[in-house]
Amino acid sequence: MTASAHVLGFAGSLRKGSFNKALLRAAAELLPEGMTLEIFDLAPIPMYNADVQEQGFPPSVRSFRERIAAADALLIATPEYNYSIPGVLKNAIDWASRPPDQPLFGKPVAIMGASDGPRGTARGQLALRLVFVTLNMLPVQKPEVLVADAPDKFDASGRLTDENTRGHIRKLLDALSAWTEQVRPRGGPDATIP
Ligand SMILES: Cc1cc2nc3c(=O)[nH]c(=O)nc-3n(C[C@H](O)[C@H](O)[C@H](O)COP(=O)(O)O)c2cc1C
Repeated sequence: MTASAHVLGFAGSLRKGSFNKALLRAAAELLPEGMTLEIFDLAPIPMYNADVQEQGFPPSVRSFRERIAAADALLIATPEYNYSIPGVLKNAIDWASRPPDQPLFGKPVAIMGASDGPRGTARGQLALRLVFVTLNMLPVQKPEVLVADAPDKFDASGRLTDENTRGHIRKLLDALSAWTEQVRPRGGPDATIP
């Protein structure tokens, strides 16, 4: 039987022509059987402020947390900013990490990244993996999707045309599908992760 997995994808870049948003669109074309992908736009999420949180999560944050909770796995496509992750992405993760419930806890997650430089977000992805440690998120380790020299790999409409990169994404999605099935909590909602 084919495993089914609903994946929530989001990008660490807000710009219209973002290569990382384009990676998510490419992933949507390359999904393995049984996988669905929903893309969430981080643009409406405000800057984290504990005083605001005390009054209740803002609607965009509530929606983000609900969509994470409803997903079997996450797919994050992010640029590297100054050897780390963009504030937009860290801010969204910070909001999602706040109690009382912990939608990120034990969530399988895969990472992709595109950069206009030669190292394809390698350092940014490492920084993101560090955040996963404290949140007890469950990252796919391999394959890594590091898209260097991004302007050469997309056409003018923002479609990923590089066949090699499309192959890497396909393999990452296959790995995410298998990993999600492997770590899926069993025995009902109170079950703990293996
Ligand atoms: C504030 C800032 C810092 C950046 N730092 C890095 C970096 O450390 N490494 C890198 O490869 N590219 C860096 N870049 C370039 C990005 O890789 C490039 O802008 C990329 O296209 C952003 O992703 P996007 O197309 O999804 O918006 C930086 C860009 C910005 C705006």
